[in-house]
Amino acid sequence: MRTYLVTGGAGFIGSNYIHYMLRKYGDQIRIINVDALTYAGNLENLKDIENLPNYTFVRANICDKEAIGRIFAENDIDRVVHFAAESHVDRSIKNPEVFVQTNVLGTAVMLNCARAAWEREDGTYPEGKKFLHVSTDEVYGSLPDDDTAFFYETTPYDPHSPYSASKASSDLLVKAYMDTYHFPANITNCSNNYGPYQFPEKPIR
Ligand SMILES: NC(=O)c1ccc[n+]([C@@H]2O[C@H](COP(=O)([O-])OP(=O)(O)OC[C@H]3O[C@@H](n4cnc5c(N)ncnc54)[C@H](O)[C@@H]3O)[C@@H](O)[C@H]2O)c1
Repeated sequence: MRTYLVTGGAGFIGSNYIHYMLRKYGDQIRIINVDALTYAGNLENLKDIENLPNYTFVRANICDKEAIGRIFAENDIDRVVHFAAESHVDRSIKNPEVFVQTNVLGTAVMLNCARAAWEREDGTYPEGKKFLHVSTDEVYGSLPDDDTAFFYETTPYDPHSPYSASKASSDLLVKAYMDTYHFPANITNCSNNYGPYQFPEKPIR
């Protein structure tokens, strides 16, 4: 049975992802959700699945390397799906430090713990291990309002807020692990999402 470690699974996209995966794969997979339950995390989002035998919630901060290391030591994690972040641009302008802490240092802790658990002595990794880093298109800056331009994976990074700068930094760390340690990772840079379980501070405008 494949085991997924989902970070930030009590937030908006993470809780949708957990519901989606359990709907799609049922008891063929196991999900461990690690979340610090900041203002943005809400376990009510997961009330309907909280007692499933193949779902576990761990309250921990991704910056806490002992807590995260323990999860890797006690479980054979196949996939990390890393959603946990400080995610609100306006909050990042008021209090940038916590964005650097969680988005940059927290990602470094997740990468280090996954690498320590997965990397063999010869520098290779077992088949099937994968770290998915969930990032944002905001690392590329802004587009004109007239739908004439697009972002591509090759678009140079041009972050403008502390939020997007911290996410860009975390992307570069993941890329560095992929290059330096051949670490098995992917990065997604999606644009804004809307839907159920969304925190009310991010309304559709
Ligand atoms: N919402 C969007 O439209 C959007 C768009 C592009 C990318 N993203 C990215 O997707 C991811 C999820 O976004 P979201 O909108 O669901 O965010 P969210 O703010 O709704 O949820 C974040 C979750 O992470 C948890 N968390 C925060 N700091 C933590 C820490 N230090 N340790 C452990 N858990 C912590 C929170 O408790 C919360 O449950 C983020 O990485 C974000 O950058 C979001």
